[in-house]
Amino acid sequence: MSDKNATVNLNGANLDMPVHQGSVGPEVVDIRKFYAQTGAFTYDPGFTSTASCESGLTYIDGGEGVLLHRGYPIGQLAEHSSFMEVAYLLLNDELPSQDELNDFTYTITRHTMLHEQLMQFYQGFRRDAHPMAIMCGVVGALSAFYHDSTDIADPEHRKISSHRLIAKMPTIAAAAYKYSIGQPFLYPDNSLSYTGNFLRMTFGVPAEPYEIHPAIERALDRIFILHADHEQNASTSTVRLAGSSGANPFACIAAGIACLWGPAHGGANEAALNMLREIGTPDKIPHYIERAKDKNDPFRLMGFGHRVYKNYDPRATVMQETVREVFDALKVTDPVFETARQLEEMALNDDYFKEKKLFPNVDFYSGVILSAIGFPTTMFTALFALARTVGWVAQWNEMISDPGQKIGRPRQLYTGPTQRDYIPLDKR
Ligand code: CMC
Repeated sequence: MSDKNATVNLNGANLDMPVHQGSVGPEVVDIRKFYAQTGAFTYDPGFTSTASCESGLTYIDGGEGVLLHRGYPIGQLAEHSSFMEVAYLLLNDELPSQDELNDFTYTITRHTMLHEQLMQFYQGFRRDAHPMAIMCGVVGALSAFYHDSTDIADPEHRKISSHRLIAKMPTIAAAAYKYSIGQPFLYPDNSLSYTGNFLRMTFGVPAEPYEIHPAIERALDRIFILHADHEQNASTSTVRLAGSSGANPFACIAAGIACLWGPAHGGANEAALNMLREIGTPDKIPHYIERAKDKNDPFRLMGFGHRVYKNYDPRATVMQETVREVFDALKVTDPVFETARQLEEMALNDDYFKEKKLFPNVDFYSGVILSAIGFPTTMFTALFALARTVGWVAQWNEMISDPGQKIGRPRQLYTGPTQRDYIPLDKR
């Protein structure tokens, strides 16, 4: 219980509300009894000041550029850990022992195949369908194929469906890509790592062996780590809200994918690279910076700005280092990287971006790396979805396991007409 209160004076009456302190981070005023005691709602469109849940997974200090998963800094996880280890950490509270990691990796590896009939589901899509459109559909359809793991009240069902989602996502995303280019789907190869398997299913062909480049496998695995979870972002909140009604996990993750697709969220990596290619050469940068600052122009610098980070996004720092690593490994370069670098430098020295505390976010450099590896821009957000599935299922599990969990049901500030009588058609 809290021993500190915040007091609101409304219509002459004082209401005391408990103030909670998390393990770290801002104090949180508990307004749950606010309506019952005052008859008034609070108003916070976009949830800029509202904690929607209690969570022990991920902590962000946006002012300091800190991101922790279960207390571990993202920079340390990106440097020393693997995506499978981070997935285990998010799902299970602690880093795994070697045996626990082996068991977890084994389990995930054994769930990578898709029901054969689900593979036929792809044929219903047009060849030019966006991979995210396919993923929304196919992931939602998992609930029609894996009935044996949809009882959300059963922890074992929740665990199996979580493992299935994490394991099948690379197969689903790779198949979406293969379908778009008219190549045969490749079945998973269980002798490969999670990320190596995804690379092979995406870029391999049945006619010849696919050689995995270790530096690329490591770089992509790190990109997955950087995207694994990000506390109560829009898609995670969507998954929680969908899950709060008791919907099955596959449907909830499909809802998360739909939300992630938007250019203000996961779609920004695709939009950022498209923007950099449109800018083309560094001499055009000032023109685009002016456009981004112009209130009458809808153009924004994609991959810039964040609701929470008002200092450098720590994931962007790792991304920028990874660009060089990938270029060196593949012995390639891309003029778009120089454009990105100069755009970042110019924006960071511009008063508009300084005043509004707008910095590059995780999506600014990720597209440059993914493009160098060979992914088309339309696959970028699909890769984000693949990695974020870990965070979505971990957050969903945390919510369902909470005995106090309620259906999410926000209220509103109603500004429509007050009650009036129906007007018959001939009188209108
Ligand atoms: N370019 C130009 N101006 C910007 C930008 C930008 N990228 N981002 C924010 N601003 C301005 C905005 O116009 C506003 O100005 P004013 O106060 O004068 O109206 C101010 O900065 C605050 O912006 P906001 O839209 O109110 O802030 P928000 O917290 O609602 O939005 C955001 C955050 C990420 C949606 C926004 O910064 C944005 O649209 N960025 C570009 C898209 C992007 O890169 N998204 C990826 C986010 S990171 C990955 C993820 O979480 O999915």
